Amino acid sequence: MKTAFSKVLLACVTAGMLSLSVQADTLTRQNGAPVGDNQNSQTAGPWGPVLLQDSHLIEKLASFDRERIPERVVHARGTGVYGYYENYEDLSDETMAAPFQKEGKKTDVFVRFSAVIHGHQSPETLRDPRGFAVKFYTEQGNWDLVGNNFPVFFIRDAIKFPDMVHAFKPSPVTNVQMGSRIFDFFSHVPEGTHALTMLFSDYGTPASYLNMNGSGVHAFKFVDESGDYKYVKFTWKANQPVKNFTAEQAMKVQGEDFQPHTSDIYTRIGEKGETASWDLYLQEMEPEQLDDYDFNPLDTTKIWPESLVPARKIGRLVLNRVPDNFFEETEQAAFAPSNLIPGIEPSEDRMLQGRLFSYADTQRYRLGVNAYRIPVNSPKNATIDNHEQHGQLRTTHSTRDVNYQPSRRVDLNEDPAYRYSSKPLAGMTQQIPFYKEQNFKQAGDFYRSLSKEGRQHLIENMGGTLAGTPEEEIRVIISAYMYNADKEYGTGVAKRANASLSKVKAKAKELMDTQTERAKHAKQVA
Ligand code: HEM
Repeated sequence: MKTAFSKVLLACVTAGMLSLSVQADTLTRQNGAPVGDNQNSQTAGPWGPVLLQDSHLIEKLASFDRERIPERVVHARGTGVYGYYENYEDLSDETMAAPFQKEGKKTDVFVRFSAVIHGHQSPETLRDPRGFAVKFYTEQGNWDLVGNNFPVFFIRDAIKFPDMVHAFKPSPVTNVQMGSRIFDFFSHVPEGTHALTMLFSDYGTPASYLNMNGSGVHAFKFVDESGDYKYVKFTWKANQPVKNFTAEQAMKVQGEDFQPHTSDIYTRIGEKGETASWDLYLQEMEPEQLDDYDFNPLDTTKIWPESLVPARKIGRLVLNRVPDNFFEETEQAAFAPSNLIPGIEPSEDRMLQGRLFSYADTQRYRLGVNAYRIPVNSPKNATIDNHEQHGQLRTTHSTRDVNYQPSRRVDLNEDPAYRYSSKPLAGMTQQIPFYKEQNFKQAGDFYRSLSKEGRQHLIENMGGTLAGTPEEEIRVIISAYMYNADKEYGTGVAKRANASLSKVKAKAKELMDTQTERAKHAKQVA
């Protein structure tokens, strides 16, 4: 028997007043079917419970329940921008890498800037390094240069990374970030002196993502067509003036706006249509030069000083378009140091070697096995053609019966021109530190490069945070690192942190002696 409503509906349709095809502006369910009521759940009469058979309601709540994906374990808060890289110099005699093949060549890029330690929607004003990750959509596939605003890192071996991050993150007991946990960890890690010095300087609180420099940090290899290689480092120098907040300014801004960096990009680039640019500088080192310096060039706690290894401008990065949708593009973006292209290979840097595994691994967990098929991560100027298949959320379509290689039926072959370069190796497998640890010198150079005001801020920021560490031993050790970097710096930190200066001096000497002893031992074993 027809209900009164269906009789009316039928009459309307018959009279041509309604069309049964769904209009483009009709709200639909996930299967494309039109939704009749998006305001009232289906109930058993006016007083009865909601019915399980209201599939639209169930689907809507279920979809909402699953809106969050795991956030990045580090660098969770970030913002993305599109643009291009323009190459100034033909480097085809040094590398096969596509972006560097011709003068004037442009390559599409997506960049994600980020803060490191806190969560997905945390304040952007906190003291932290900032991520500067660039995805180049080249015709040889995607190349990710996943760098930071600091040119050095806190540790030099990937094996320490999870412990370091645990120390920086809030306590597992209270969920409060504690300077004392950070300094407890670093009191065993003198190699952190350089990056800690940068972190507690005003560079630890940049005023804007667009007003900071960036660095690839690690050495990579430029490989030419014959397989010869040299070591290279990449640095982004901003064409906008570099601007930092003082600790006071950062606190004030945070009280008014806890997301100034994202707003800044959406205002300047998104609304006003401005562009921002950085020049790309290249430093190069021949393999036989690796042992020529008083530091190890494959150590992430070191820069290659430009006085020793000159830098030259080879191109520029221009950012000019914000994403249409934060989740689809920025949140789902997956950058990985292992996303390399022919002509760029990893160096033997022990941190980089760990990163080669870690990023793609976390992305398989965070986004799934098809992470690199998501549009923002998928090559835009190259085609993926291999036999990796299936897995959750595979949306690509294939009609090819041959899903193996080699095959006489499908001519999909490797090209020996793109084999990895070779490097002669000798020696024993071992677990020893670098014999040129040189933990303090470059931190001192950085300290002395700061203005008088900048040095005072650094001493106040570091000493003030260190003062909250209850154990005097830790306050003494950390001050001793800084004392070994620069006597004025260490003395200032010790005073502010209330650490005995005579103990600091004695510890500083002990640390230097230990470094010398370890160096001798490591050299003998190497
Ligand atoms: C993000 C691990 C060192 C820069 C990440 C993520 C992991 C990670 C697991 C999250 C990735 C994702 O969910 O997509 C490590 C490990 C390191 C290390 C194990 C040392 C062994 C570094 C260093 C730098 C760096 C030295 C700078 C040169 C970044 C950046 C991101 C990131 C910029 C955010 C990328 C984005 O915007 O999506 N790291 N990291 N990391 N890391 Fe590291």
